[in-house]
Amino acid sequence: MSACNFFVTCAKGTEGALRRELVALRIHGPRGATGGVSFAGTFMDGMKVCLHARVAMRVLLEVADFRASDAAGLYAGTRQVDWTDFVGRGMTIAVSATTQDNPNLRHSGFAALKVKDAIVDMLRERNGRRPDVNPTNPDVAIVLHLRGAEARLFIDLSGEPLHRRGYRVAMVEAPLKESLAAAVLSLGGVAIDQPFIDPMAGSGTLAIEHALAARGVAPGLRRRFGFERWATAEQRRIWETLVKAATNAIRPQAPCPILARDIDKEAIAAARRNAEAAAVLSDITFEVGDIATLTPRGPAGTLCANPPYGERLESASTGADVERLYASMGRMLDEMRGWRAVFLAGNPIFAKALRRKPTISHRLWNGPIEARLMVFEP
Ligand SMILES: C[S@@+](CC[C@H](N)C(=O)[O-])C[C@H]1O[C@@H](n2cnc3c(N)ncnc32)[C@H](O)[C@@H]1O
Repeated sequence: MSACNFFVTCAKGTEGALRRELVALRIHGPRGATGGVSFAGTFMDGMKVCLHARVAMRVLLEVADFRASDAAGLYAGTRQVDWTDFVGRGMTIAVSATTQDNPNLRHSGFAALKVKDAIVDMLRERNGRRPDVNPTNPDVAIVLHLRGAEARLFIDLSGEPLHRRGYRVAMVEAPLKESLAAAVLSLGGVAIDQPFIDPMAGSGTLAIEHALAARGVAPGLRRRFGFERWATAEQRRIWETLVKAATNAIRPQAPCPILARDIDKEAIAAARRNAEAAAVLSDITFEVGDIATLTPRGPAGTLCANPPYGERLESASTGADVERLYASMGRMLDEMRGWRAVFLAGNPIFAKALRRKPTISHRLWNGPIEARLMVFEP
């Protein structure tokens, strides 16, 4: 199998966790960049990342790398690629772009349009027929990254972004993306063989992601991928082997208790439904309760939560202000002697209100919101 270049995207600040995952998948030499990690590997490696990476958002296969200082250069470079290798007859396409530091191509929408025109013209010349554009559900999604005059074109293997595992059937306010929850668990060093409590579980993302990891369930097993629409027969055969091996690797149950708790009974109902859809319902205990009433049970493990950031707190049924809530979390930590705590906090007053110094404070981005992953050792 020949070597291909990949760029795997992730939330800013979670690149280290993604790099570790790729190394665990035996991918050689992953190199970090902001918002993603690149590596050289086989197409099978790309499929493995789609199936197994918990922190990744998209897996992009590089198809061209050229210089384009303006629209004409971008059009010409894109037309050089043999798109018949990727876009079969009757297939639909979509093009998206990010642009940076290119004075002639400032607008990503315009750059994407130029790339689309070049692909359509090239395919019409070769096939006698232009492909249709389907912006929301294309067969082949093409991505342009333009940085200065360096243009890189990719095919997206993922289809829907990888955080959509397929288990989120019930929503609450401000749910964490599944891939960000996985990054919190990884960067926070949450052990899969120790008890786990999310005392502010919302729709249950952290507890479900922890249960999936503890059971060894590959996050991509319950969904489809973009490459399934255009992979060759040989690639499909390899994909089936990967899926079979991943299915056989699932452990029958999580090794330690997992508790998802929240003050809001609607949130707990949603968490339960999501856990059922993820097939980890039997691994998680659900409870309605205020963080102030949490007391230790069984051996110590990890507390992990994404407390309200503040702006939406009025809707929480406590009615308390954010500072009082954080102070109450501090008292809960006093009670839970021996437990490590891993929190994803968006509010700068968090650690101060908790009256504790974190041993790790790591900056990452929850979409556009800057947040801090904080670890408090017992
Ligand atoms: C940002 S949300 C958590 C979202 C969750 N990580 C998810 O992915 O859906 C914060 C949660 O804290 C809960 N909460 C607020 N005050 C609480 C309290 N005093 N005790 C327990 N839970 C509380 C809210 O009901 C809400 O579900």
